[in-house]
Amino acid sequence: MTEFPIPRAALLDGNALAATIRSELRDDVADFTRRYGRPPGLRVVLVGEHPASASYVSGKTQDARAVGLDAATVALPETTSEAELLALLDTLNRDDAVDGVLVQLPLPPHIRTERIVEAIAPEKDVDGFHPENVGRAFTDTGGLLPCTPAGILELLERADVATRGLHAVVVGRSLIVGKPMASLLSSPRYNCTVTLTHRHTRDLAAFTRAADLLVVAVGQPGLITADMVKDGAVVIDVGINRVDDPSRERGYKLVGDVAFDDVAAKARLITPVPGGVGPMTRAMLLRNTVQAARARAAEP
Ligand code: GUN
Repeated sequence: MTEFPIPRAALLDGNALAATIRSELRDDVADFTRRYGRPPGLRVVLVGEHPASASYVSGKTQDARAVGLDAATVALPETTSEAELLALLDTLNRDDAVDGVLVQLPLPPHIRTERIVEAIAPEKDVDGFHPENVGRAFTDTGGLLPCTPAGILELLERADVATRGLHAVVVGRSLIVGKPMASLLSSPRYNCTVTLTHRHTRDLAAFTRAADLLVVAVGQPGLITADMVKDGAVVIDVGINRVDDPSRERGYKLVGDVAFDDVAAKARLITPVPGGVGPMTRAMLLRNTVQAARARAAEP
């Protein structure tokens, strides 16, 4: 009996590309350090004991040190007041050796997130969350891009995906991923025709099936099944969901929003979870820190 191979998408390997980018950044950081007599500085602020946040923050600081940045975590107790956090940000904003400031979210409920995000100096806002940077991304006027959309664009560019004229469908309208992604993909650099969908979209499948490029950022395991994907589409899965898995020691596994095995049989390119968008997001934080340091050194 002849066996026909099942067509399978090529992987967009975020782990491999992030490693390449980190090694490029190591050279950039060494150049900066030689030129200005200090490495670019990053401070990651963690308020409270949220276990997932603590592990994200230590990952970010370790990544940053590994490329030669002067990186440190500032850990504050859950009871920190909004005024105390604002005072810390004021100190970091004024510190010339600090180029990037990131406040890990979510914050405890007694602290107003938008008040904190807006208190980070825009030129040090390496998350790209400050309204000035959001506006700059929207108006194509530079600034620091949010890390997840920037990481996805880098993944597409380095895989030579020709985006011009593609119908890109973005699922999820978050301020951190969906909205900026839709805006950037429609910009003159990428020239996609973009549809932005969300939880109230009627007949989501009708939209996703029309997508040449599908970006899914919802946080719902298995949301996108093979029947919702066009043959030959490029599929970017931003979801990171913990699902129970008693066969693993830690009791869970990480999956995206896309039913990976079935969709991989139909797509042309697909990001895995883990190992797709996640490592790219982390690498873009380091790139933003170097970009912020260079911009500040050029315009002190
Ligand atoms: N919490 C989850 N993701 C992020 C992120 O990208 N930046 C910050 N500051 N907090 C987060």
